[in-house]
Amino acid sequence: MLNFQLQMPTRILFGAGEVGKIGAEAVKYGRKVLLVTGRTSTKKTGILDCVLEFLNGAGLEVLVFDRIEPNPRASTIDEGGRIAREEDCDLIVALGGGSVMDAAKAIAAVAKSLRPIHEYMAGGHTGLWKELLPITEALPVLTVPTLAATGSEANSIAVITNWETKEKASITGPALFPVVAILDPELTYTVPVSYTADGCADIFSHLYEVYLTGEEDAHVQDEISEGLMRTVIRFAKIALAEPTNYEARAAILWASTLALIGVAGAGRGGSFTAHQLEHPLSGHYDISHGRGLAILAPDYFRYVYKERPERFAQMGRRVFGVQEADDLKAAEAAIQAVETWFEEIGVKDTLKNQGIPQDALPRIAADAVRVGGRGQGFIPGIRQLREADVLAIYQ
Ligand code: NZQ
Ligand code: ZN
Repeated sequence: MLNFQLQMPTRILFGAGEVGKIGAEAVKYGRKVLLVTGRTSTKKTGILDCVLEFLNGAGLEVLVFDRIEPNPRASTIDEGGRIAREEDCDLIVALGGGSVMDAAKAIAAVAKSLRPIHEYMAGGHTGLWKELLPITEALPVLTVPTLAATGSEANSIAVITNWETKEKASITGPALFPVVAILDPELTYTVPVSYTADGCADIFSHLYEVYLTGEEDAHVQDEISEGLMRTVIRFAKIALAEPTNYEARAAILWASTLALIGVAGAGRGGSFTAHQLEHPLSGHYDISHGRGLAILAPDYFRYVYKERPERFAQMGRRVFGVQEADDLKAAEAAIQAVETWFEEIGVKDTLKNQGIPQDALPRIAADAVRVGGRGQGFIPGIRQLREADVLAIYQ
């Protein structure tokens, strides 16, 4: 296990009805709130009105910024940051999925610095690698996830798309940790089948990424990751069949937070290879992040597993109950088991079906290596993936 430092500063309130405490929590951070949300779902479900009532009831003044699109755009964030600054907001409240929570964090940073958010994004607009500029200052952010997937509610990451350049990249920095996260599983009851399944595929991917690519002797992290994978696999099917099953929604929501809060990956090293392959796909074609990962995973696995079959074999045996002594065969069975689970939850899909044409793939592969390769010319992981490898996986 590698040495590591872990910071988890977000105060978490978890459970049915906990959203009712938002006023009492928010009021600790000031008087004026910018409530950041998506364009449709929180109005349709009625949760936006409830939250407004709770915040107003605590004596807070609230401005609503309801323009966040899935795969949030840099231009929308710059606009939100300008409003938060001009209106002198004290706190940003994020009500929505990962896109809304990521956008809220970015708005909180722009409100402080007034620099366009793309200046903080890793990548490069000119074909050259640009290091990610850490964010050191931001307004406090309170998150209320309405969809279980990204873990954004309690981590310091946000993923933003610069729609002009089609660059999708992360921003990060300790200032982006939300101060409070209110996790109320009942808010996820209305998530449609497709996003519920995509979210579960995303949670699963946050766990297998460093599990497959990082240090082998991180035994505590192995057990945590395997337990969370088994939990998501088990409860995804239940939540899909019974969207208001509290037990299933609660298990999935808590797994989503734990998967990307730093615990499962601590001391591991490794790489988020599948994410580096996926981000340019949703950056260029606006597809769902979780679905993109589910499309790529089996082909990505088959492209690399022979270099490190023992990790795939362990996942197969401990997570999917594969009974096979030979590592190579167990690894193949593990990949098949992942594919079968994807099929069962309805996320087995193709790039073509998501509207991504073959002739777009070379440019997307070049972008994947430019941003995900951090200027090295390859995406790190089980093996180095150069542009030709990435293209082969996409194809
Ligand atoms: O658009 P609105 O009206 O908000 O509706 C959303 C959206 O259309 C809808 N939705 C959310 N909660 C709902 C609901 N519909 C009905 N009932 C509810 N309770 O679901 C759709 C998808 O929402 P979105 O926020 O885009 O999904 P997700 O949570 O999967 O977030 C995806 C974004 O997060 C980034 C992804 O790249 C992508 O941009 N990620 C962020 C990470 C992080 N911050 O740590 C890590 C992840 O790996 C990921 O990259
Ligand atoms: Zn993800």
